Amino acid sequence: MVIDTDPGIDDVVALALAARCPEIEILAVTTTYGNAPLTVTTRNARTILRLSARRDIPIFPGADRPRSRALATAPETHGVSGVGYAPVDPPAPIVVPARPAVLCDVLNMVSRPVTLVTLGPLTNLAAALEKDEALVRRRVAQHIGMFGSLRERGNTNRWADFNAWSDPEAADMVVRCQLPTHMVGLDVTRQMTVSSSEVDDIGQSSSKLARWLASAMRFYVEFHRSQERLDGCVINDVLTIGELIAPGMLRFEKVPIRVDLDEGEHRGHTRGGPGESSRPLQVATDVDVYAMRHLLTRVFGRSWFERFHQEDLA
Ligand code: RIB
Ligand code: CA
Repeated sequence: MVIDTDPGIDDVVALALAARCPEIEILAVTTTYGNAPLTVTTRNARTILRLSARRDIPIFPGADRPRSRALATAPETHGVSGVGYAPVDPPAPIVVPARPAVLCDVLNMVSRPVTLVTLGPLTNLAAALEKDEALVRRRVAQHIGMFGSLRERGNTNRWADFNAWSDPEAADMVVRCQLPTHMVGLDVTRQMTVSSSEVDDIGQSSSKLARWLASAMRFYVEFHRSQERLDGCVINDVLTIGELIAPGMLRFEKVPIRVDLDEGEHRGHTRGGPGESSRPLQVATDVDVYAMRHLLTRVFGRSWFERFHQEDLA
C-alpha cells in the first residue's frame, strides 16, 4: 500500500499500526500539509516510522497548500508539533520543494497496482489525477480514505470533516473521478475513541512506541475534552488501516456523494443524495469497534484493550 498522510496525532497511531503489522506492506509514505505544515508533517512521518523501526519505508513530501483555498492547519487540535506532547526533533527543512503531484512519482516507481490510503486532505491525489489520470487509474487498485461525513456532525464546521474541508476542490475531483474509492468518514470514526484512562494506561506500557503515542494522545484528549466534552480522543485514521488488515471491520453502503464547494458552513460537506455532481461512493456506515480495539491490542499490547474488555464484561 501507499499511505498519504498529514501526521497529526491520529495519523501517527494509524502509521504505527500499519508499520508494526506484518500483514501490511507499505511501499511508500507521501506527506501533505493538513494538521500541520508540510515540513512538520513530513518530520512527524519520519519520526513515527523511526520509532516503529521502519526506516526502510521511503517518505516523499507532497503538497504544502490546498489547490485554491488558503492554508489552514490545526495546531489547536494536534499541537504546534503536530503530535501533541510527544517529543520530536526540530522539523528538518524540506530538502526538496513541495511536489503536489508526488503520487505520480511514487506510482511510476511501483511495479504493480497498489492500495492507496489517504489520511489527510486529498490535494496530493487530486494533483496526481490532474497530471496523469491514466497512471492513477492503472496503478491504484483501491483508494480508501479517511474523509467526509454523511450523517454525523462535522468536526471543522457543522457538516464537514477537516480533510474534506481543507481542500473541497480536491475532494470534489476525487469523488467525480470515480476511482474505486471507499470513504471512511466521521459516521464511523467518531465511534473509535480512546478514553483518557486508557491513554494513561498506554503511557505506562513497557513499549517506548506506545508511551510516545500516549504522550501525543494526551494533548488530543485535552482538545476533545475542551471542544467536545469527550473524556477521550477520536483516533479517526486508524479505521482505514484496520479495514485493510481485517476486511469486514467496516460495513459500506453505495451512496451518491457530492462535495459542497461553498465557503460557508457547508464548505467540504460530503452530501449524500442525487445531484449533478453526485457520484456513487462506497461509504462506511458501521464499524466493529471491538475488532478494531482487538487489533490495536495485538499490535501495541494489552493496555489498548484491558479497560474496554473489563467494561465489556462488567
Ligand atoms: O477529520 C479528521 C481528519 O482530519 C483526520 O485525518 C485528522 O488527522 C485530520 O487530518
Ligand atoms: Ca489525518
